[in-house]
Amino acid sequence: MSTAGSILCSNILGRGKAMKIRLAERLGGVQESATLKMAVATRALAAKGIKVTSFTVGEPIGPPPAVVCEAAHAAIREGFHRYTPVPGIPALRERIAQRFREDNDLAYQADQIAVTVGAKQALFNFFLATISPGDEVIIPAPYWTSYPEMVKIAGGRPVIVETTAEEGFKLSPNSLKRVLTSRTRVFLINSPSNPTGATYSRSEIEALAKVLESTDILVCSDEIYEKLTFEGEFVSFGAVSKDAFERTVTINGFSKSHALTGWRLGYAAGPKPIIEAMLLLQGQSTSGANSVGQKAALAGLDAPRSEMETVVQTLRERRDQLVKILSQDHKLSFLKPPATFYLFLNVEKYLGRKTPSGKAVANSDDMALYLLEEGHVGTVPGSGFGAEGYLRLSFAVSPEDLETGAKALLSALKKLQ
Ligand SMILES: Cc1ncc(COP(=O)(O)O)c(C=O)c1O
Repeated sequence: MSTAGSILCSNILGRGKAMKIRLAERLGGVQESATLKMAVATRALAAKGIKVTSFTVGEPIGPPPAVVCEAAHAAIREGFHRYTPVPGIPALRERIAQRFREDNDLAYQADQIAVTVGAKQALFNFFLATISPGDEVIIPAPYWTSYPEMVKIAGGRPVIVETTAEEGFKLSPNSLKRVLTSRTRVFLINSPSNPTGATYSRSEIEALAKVLESTDILVCSDEIYEKLTFEGEFVSFGAVSKDAFERTVTINGFSKSHALTGWRLGYAAGPKPIIEAMLLLQGQSTSGANSVGQKAALAGLDAPRSEMETVVQTLRERRDQLVKILSQDHKLSFLKPPATFYLFLNVEKYLGRKTPSGKAVANSDDMALYLLEEGHVGTVPGSGFGAEGYLRLSFAVSPEDLETGAKALLSALKKLQ
C-alpha cells in the first residue's frame, strides 16, 4: 500500500487527460490483513491445479446449527426483509443480554447491547467512538492482525506489549503497569486469543483489573472464541468486579460460536454512553446487521447445547492430532492451545537456513512462502500477529487434511539446510 495522501496512479480519462488519484491520509501505514494475503496465495496455487492443504482458515468446522438455517428460511417466508432498528431487533438484544447474564455473569440490560455487522464492526465502532488522535491503546502481542490497524484508522497509537511463551502468552500486571501513560485510553484483551489460544484465568484477570482501578482507562474485551474452550474455565473480563464491569466493553459474535462467519453478525455490550456513541456511528454507516440474520441469530442462541459440544469435541480431537504430529520434531515448540482452533508454532530453530534451491529463509514470511511452495501447505506468518519466528496453524480442517498437511510441513522443514 502506498503512503496515503500520495498519488497512487494516473487514471486516463476519456479525453486522454490524466487524473491524479489521492487516497485519504488516515490510511497511512495501514497494512493489509496477513491472514487474507496468505489465503490469496494459497488459492492461487490451487487455481493452478496444485492441491494445497490450508491451515490458514479462520472458520470453525461444519454447518451452523440447523435451527439457525430454519429460522432464516422462516424469516424470508414471512417477508422479514426491511430495515431493522439500528441497535438490532429488540428480541435479539433482550436475548443477548439474557445470555450474558446466564453464561458470563455480566448484568447487561438490553439497551446496553449493540448488534453489529460482525464482531469486526463492533470493534471498529468501539475504537471510532472512543479514540481521539494520539490516544494510546495497549495491545498485548501476539495479537489478532486487525487490532493495531483499526486503532490507527481511528487516529490512535497502538502500544504493543510483547508477551512470551514462558508467560503463556499472557500479559502480566507488571507489564501492564509499565506501559500506562497519561495518554492511555484503552486496554485491549483477547481471551481466548487468536493466534495463541491463550486464555486468562479468573485470578489473572482480577490482577489486571486491579491495575486499572482508579484510572479512566477503558477495557475492550474481545471474547469471540469463548465457546470454543477445551479446558479450564472461561471468565469474562467484566465479570471479576463491579469496577471491571463498568469500564469494559465486551465484544462477541456468531461467527465462531455458530459457524456463521459469512453472515456477518456480532455484538457489543458495555456502558450505555459508549454503546450509544457506537450506535450513532452505526446509524450513519451500515444501519446495522441484516434482518434475516438477526432472526436466525436469535434462534441460534437457543440451539441445543449438544450441537455446540459436538463442535468443541471435534476441535479438541483435531488439536490433539496436530499436537501429536508436531511433537515428533523437537526443533519445533508450541503451547497446547486450551481454546480456539489455532496453534501458534515456533519455527525459530529453522530460520536462517536455506531452501533446496538456495533461497534464504530469514523470517516467518519467507517460511510461510517456502512451506506453501515446497510442501503445498498454507500457514499464516507470525509477523502479521506481532510475533516474528512463528506460524499460525488453524486446525479447523478434516482429519485427513490435517494428517497430510502436518506431515508435509515436517518433511519440508527437514529439507532446509
Ligand atoms: C479475535 C477476533 N476478533 C474478532 C474477529 C472478527 O469476527 P467477525 O467475523 O464476527 O467479524 C475475529 C475473526 O477472525 C477474530 O479472530
